[in-house]
Amino acid sequence: MLTNEKVIKLLQEQVNAEFYSAYLYLSFANWLEVEGLPGFANFYKIQAKEEQFHGELFMDYLHAHGILVDLPAIDAPDFKVKDIESILREGLKHEQHVTALIHNIYKEALAVHDFRTTEMLNWFVKEQLEEEVVAQELIDKFMLLKDSGNGIYIMDQELASREWEEPEFSIVD
Ligand code: FEO
Repeated sequence: MLTNEKVIKLLQEQVNAEFYSAYLYLSFANWLEVEGLPGFANFYKIQAKEEQFHGELFMDYLHAHGILVDLPAIDAPDFKVKDIESILREGLKHEQHVTALIHNIYKEALAVHDFRTTEMLNWFVKEQLEEEVVAQELIDKFMLLKDSGNGIYIMDQELASREWEEPEFSIVD
């Protein structure tokens, strides 16, 4: 049973937030591709796929309870790219924002003893730590390499090898 209206509303909003994340990362990839950085673009295209997967998980969770998912418009990305570093920093900032959203749903679910939702969210709580660590590592590496002659080229080559792997998590096995 999923009966608390506030929790249901937050879960509905999270579907949109995850698809917005995908859209934001596609906007990063869009700029990076045109700037001749296909490896960085590849990284964010795969991030976008992950976000779509996250959005679908929240949809699956609502569907498992017979709830029709709201699909309002996805906002245009609220970010003006300046350079690579601005993208990397916005990526980390955005993941920190998403972590706060997930934690807020968790808090509300816990308050009404909705342990099924907190259990489902445990995967996302851990996933957000990973997302933030990866985003921070990208910044750290970029800051180390950016002033060396071919540092950005090397980083771009490395990021080009990232491949999409669907995470091993599902709402109902
Ligand atoms: Fe859906 Fe990047 O967290």
